[in-house]
Amino acid sequence: MAREHFTRMDQSSEAQWQFILSETQQEQSLVPDRILAMLRSLDKVYGGFGVSQLHHALQTATMARRDNASDEVVLAALCHDIGKAISIPNHAQIGAEIVRKYVSEHTYHVLRTHQDFQGRHYYEYFGQPGNLRDAYRNEPWFALAEQFTDEWDQQAFDPAYKVLPLEELEPLVRQFFGTFQI
Ligand SMILES: [Fe+2]
Repeated sequence: MAREHFTRMDQSSEAQWQFILSETQQEQSLVPDRILAMLRSLDKVYGGFGVSQLHHALQTATMARRDNASDEVVLAALCHDIGKAISIPNHAQIGAEIVRKYVSEHTYHVLRTHQDFQGRHYYEYFGQPGNLRDAYRNEPWFALAEQFTDEWDQQAFDPAYKVLPLEELEPLVRQFFGTFQI
């Protein structure tokens, strides 16, 4: 029997929404592959840097893992610039929202604000203040954001650095993005 779909929400039924919910839950299983495809697409994004954004993502994640960061933080390191696959100027916010439902609030805020922390290392060249991170000094995630930015992210532009291959980090992507329940 063909399913009847509504043409406007204010004429919908509970049964139709139950069907939409179950279909949406099945769609969720596609999220890890979408994330992996976005990450792979970063191998074409250089934006003037000496390494691709895929290498940068892998190096940031590899450095985090070698410093014994948690799996969630390693995942965040891998995905922190994933927004550059869409739009570089607001990539931090895009990336943070992409991971938001799948990580803790602390990790979300680290990704959301990471450009403000990065500013210490180069904003002077654009005539902008390098101390934007000071606005977050009282946040419980401030120390993690400093470690993330200063010890990993801003150092992860070395083409000679031996990065973990994306395939080795793929289980993390599947673990975090594949288990979300609507
Ligand atoms: Fe970065």
